[in-house]
Amino acid sequence: MIYLDHNATTPLDPEVLEAMMPYLTENYANPSSGHAMGKAARAAVDKARQRIADLLGCDRRSVIFTSGGTEANNLAFYGLSSGQFEGRHIVIGGAEHPSVVAAARRMEKSGFEISVAEIDEHGEVTAEAVEKVLRKDTAMVSIIHAQNEVGTVSNLEEIGEALGFRRVLFHTDAAQSVGKIPTSFPFMGTQLMTVVPHKFYGPKGIGALIVERSIKLEPFVIGGGQEDGRRGGTENVAAIVGFAKALELSWGSRLADQGETLTALRDYFHLRLSEELRGVVLNGHVKYRLPTTLNVSFLGISAAALTQKVEKCLLGKGSACHESSEEPSETLTKMGLDRDRALAALRLSIGRTNTVEEIDTAIDEIVAGVKALRAEKGLSEASLPESEEPECPRCGKGLKTMSTAGGMLVACVNYEVDCKHLLPLPGTRPPE
Ligand SMILES: Cc1ncc(COP(=O)(O)O)c(C=O)c1O
Repeated sequence: MIYLDHNATTPLDPEVLEAMMPYLTENYANPSSGHAMGKAARAAVDKARQRIADLLGCDRRSVIFTSGGTEANNLAFYGLSSGQFEGRHIVIGGAEHPSVVAAARRMEKSGFEISVAEIDEHGEVTAEAVEKVLRKDTAMVSIIHAQNEVGTVSNLEEIGEALGFRRVLFHTDAAQSVGKIPTSFPFMGTQLMTVVPHKFYGPKGIGALIVERSIKLEPFVIGGGQEDGRRGGTENVAAIVGFAKALELSWGSRLADQGETLTALRDYFHLRLSEELRGVVLNGHVKYRLPTTLNVSFLGISAAALTQKVEKCLLGKGSACHESSEEPSETLTKMGLDRDRALAALRLSIGRTNTVEEIDTAIDEIVAGVKALRAEKGLSEASLPESEEPECPRCGKGLKTMSTAGGMLVACVNYEVDCKHLLPLPGTRPPE
């Protein structure tokens, strides 16, 4: 099976599993226990916390472990009731994960008012959109960094600048961006950041809210005083150790190398689909987009039907949380897509284990599936508009593939003249 649903979750890296194993087998102690095994478990948690803090560039006390991204997002909101911020107004982005939207909506019950900074046609929340809804009494702004369905990356730095000197708590849900694109703390003007390791080859059931030291959050999971009294519950030692290992394996030069390879693979996928089929339209930003994410509409068909037709691939129609819905995605609708184009949208999210051969097989299957579905509806290929040519993420001109002795590359058609965009596909030797 070819797994093309990495934005939903990624496979556990074998090295991560190896690091976790001792804490799933021989050391099962509670880190709060004072005996030798408990102390060793505590040491493992402390070491992992320090490693995560060092990699992200924050203080170790800034890391609050949670049960995942959902809880980290919830905590960012519920912690606000500490009264540090006097305003009663909250701004969220127009394409947030349900764990942000639902938490914000619950805050309404505590007397907060919510405004939405709408996304543009690319799925981006711009600084202007945030400025439009900011108020004097805004206490918090929460904007997703990389959108999970279309992969569009919003410019948090600009949004942070728009907040200026206001005393506003700035949170970002960076579940989809950490481990995929550069994300260091203090992160683009934010004071709170949600991190989710199962999106970068770490374990599920663990996450963190990174909190700037000056911010005091009210805990909402209360109990034994763990996490400095900010989140009760026995620490999930193995998952915390796996979290640190997964972050380590996604960081530094690996982040850049993988980003380039996946960008090449993503654009190769897009290029070949557009060559083989008419009516293929990109959803999302050409330039500011996750290397893992290709969201395209195959005009004339239902993406849900396509996912059932394609046998060798595991495809996510959109956000994993909306998978069973036959309604068009809210994000795509807000981006201005009409109902048919939104229902025809498929999120292809690739990862570091995908090979060119796998993508070739996926292309063959998807092309056959789309053609069959179109034929069932009596739609001829010729009746559809030509596919848009995939654009170079650097200069906006077209892309092409190039074969070399070392393998295959994806390059800008304008490469020779002035755009130096040229990326190797997986298994290809990088050009000199
Ligand atoms: C953007 C975003 N935020 C939050 C979450 C929730 O994370 P978790 O599954 O760890 O609760 C996800 C996962 O699907 C996500 O994509």
